[in-house]
Amino acid sequence: MKPEPSADLACHKARFRALVTQTTGIQMPENKQSMIEGRMRRRYTSIGLKSMDDYLVHLFEKDGLTEEMTHIVDLVSTNKTDFFREPAHFKWLMHKILPEHPAGQPFKLWSAAASSGQEAYTIAMLLSEYAGNVPDFKYGILGTDISPAILDEARAGVYPEEQLLDIPDALLDRYFVMGHNSKGLRCGRVEKTLRDRVRFAQMNLIHGNYPVDKELDVVFLRNVLIYFDSKTQSRVISEITDHLKVGGHLFVGHSESMVVSDSRLKQVSFAVFKKERAT
Ligand SMILES: C[S@@+](CC[C@H](N)C(=O)[O-])C[C@H]1O[C@@H](n2cnc3c(N)ncnc32)[C@H](O)[C@@H]1O
Repeated sequence: MKPEPSADLACHKARFRALVTQTTGIQMPENKQSMIEGRMRRRYTSIGLKSMDDYLVHLFEKDGLTEEMTHIVDLVSTNKTDFFREPAHFKWLMHKILPEHPAGQPFKLWSAAASSGQEAYTIAMLLSEYAGNVPDFKYGILGTDISPAILDEARAGVYPEEQLLDIPDALLDRYFVMGHNSKGLRCGRVEKTLRDRVRFAQMNLIHGNYPVDKELDVVFLRNVLIYFDSKTQSRVISEITDHLKVGGHLFVGHSESMVVSDSRLKQVSFAVFKKERAT
């Protein structure tokens, strides 16, 4: 039979959950604790510890927290993403938003939970195609995420072949260089010109006061709100909306529409909102 955890350890577990929520906004219910502990195993064994309990003692009794915090953030967040994920959004961008964009003004877009970069590069391919047909079309794409490690992957822009299946062949030919990684797996790398069109930066959405331009045309804030409690969701949506120009659009994940309730935003399509007024 498993021994009962000591009062100190139970307290450390509760403190760990609170710490994760406070730092990342991510809710970590008790029933997810064992899943998270599974993910943390590789980390604590790599620093010579034998169990999650030892790791908690290391964090809270031996000053390990500062050094461990970025690893914890990486391990508690879910980075699942894909090229052309929720494809109707990209059709809306191409067919509804871009044709109405005023000529001569730069198009500014932010992918606010960019993960390993597939969302931002999907957009970069589409904007680059559009720019090929519309003289003087200039654009800038910012991709941000809380996790420094996932952003390194985004900047590298290397993806296993099976992750490239949803990319139309013509775009794959134009924007990817195929090769093999160090393990001999076939991969595609986003070609340099396109990589240079996207700037990736670390940013925690729950901190507010984002160091990002105002007057953005579009923000993709997809599949991250679900991890936050409702108060944090509303605050993040409001702060992000401050960064949109009037007439700009906010995209959220397909399961996140119902959490958007900012009075400046009007829903114009499935999980797509338009900023109608400044206040
Ligand atoms: C499921 S991925 C979504 C990726 C992409 N937007 C999509 O829809 O495919 C969620 C991302 O949100 C990031 N994330 C979680 N909490 C965050 C926070 N407080 N601030 C910024 N990013 C956060 C995670 O690191 C993860 O990469």
